[in-house]
Amino acid sequence: MASLSGNERPDLRDLLAFYAAAGVDDALEDEPIDRFAESAQRAAPVPAEASRAMPGDAGRAAAEAGRNDRAAPPRPTMAAAVPDEAQAAAARELATKAASLDELKQIMDAFEGCNLKATAKSLVFADGNPDADLMLIGEAPGRDEDLEGLPFVGRSGQLLDRILAAIGLDRRSAYLANVIPWRPPGNRTPTPHETEICRPFIERQIALSRPKVIVSLGGPSANLLTGSPDGILRLRGTWKSHTTADGTVIPVMPTLHPAYLLRNPAHKKLAWRDFLEVKAKLRELGSL
Ligand code: URA
Repeated sequence: MASLSGNERPDLRDLLAFYAAAGVDDALEDEPIDRFAESAQRAAPVPAEASRAMPGDAGRAAAEAGRNDRAAPPRPTMAAAVPDEAQAAAARELATKAASLDELKQIMDAFEGCNLKATAKSLVFADGNPDADLMLIGEAPGRDEDLEGLPFVGRSGQLLDRILAAIGLDRRSAYLANVIPWRPPGNRTPTPHETEICRPFIERQIALSRPKVIVSLGGPSANLLTGSPDGILRLRGTWKSHTTADGTVIPVMPTLHPAYLLRNPAHKKLAWRDFLEVKAKLRELGSL
C-alpha cells in the first residue's frame, strides 16, 4: 500500500471505523474486488423475470435492455435492492415457479431483489441429501459458509456433525439449509424485510424436498417456520409444525443453535434431549 502522509492517516482510520460500524469485519479475499466493474461487465440481457425482481428504475431499464439487446443502451450498473414489499412479492412469484430444487437454486442465483446478495460472495443453498427424511434449517451463513458456498461448514457445522453422529446420522442422511441463503455483512442479524424476502425461497425448498421431520436451529429459524414469536428457550424441546403451501403438515423440533451451544456448553444437554426426540420421531416414522 502506498505510504500516507500524516494528514491522510486519520481519514483512513475514519474509513476503517466506518467499515467496522457497517459490519465489514472480514477480508474474504487477499485482493480487493471491484464489484462496480464486475456488474458493468455483466452485459448479457437480463431475463424478464429476474429484472422484475430488481429495484424500480434498474429493473425497468434492464427489462428494456433484455427485450432488444442489439439496440439496448449500456446496461445500468446493478444497484443493491432496497428491501421492501415489492421484493418480497417478486420472490414469492419466482419461488412458486420452481418445479425442482435445481430450478429453485437457479432462480435464487438470478434473483437480484435481496440486498444481502450484493455483499455476499456465494449463494449458500444447501448441503446433504435432498431426499433425506430429516431437514435441518439454520438462520444464515457465516464467513466460512460464504467462502465455501455450503451451509454449516464452520465450527458450528462441526458441532452439528457431531450431534448428528450421536443419533446415528450424517450429511448423507440429512438435508441442510438456512432461512437466509446469503451471508449478512459482519454476521449481523437479518432485518425483518430481508427475512420476508427470503421466506418464499426456504418455504419452496421445504415443499420441494418434502422432509418428514424438520429441526429448526436457533430462534429466527423456529420463529419463521412455526409462526410462533416466542424465544427459543421457550420453544425448544416440544414438537411444533410447519405447513407447506399445499397443506402438508411437517413436524418441527425447535432446538438451540450450535453456535449458541459453543458459547453456552452447559446447554448442550438441552439440545441432546431435543435430538433424542428427533431420533424417536424418525424411528416412529420408519426413517431410522
Ligand atoms: N449458522 C447458521 O445458521 N447457518 C450456517 O450455515 C452456519 C452458521
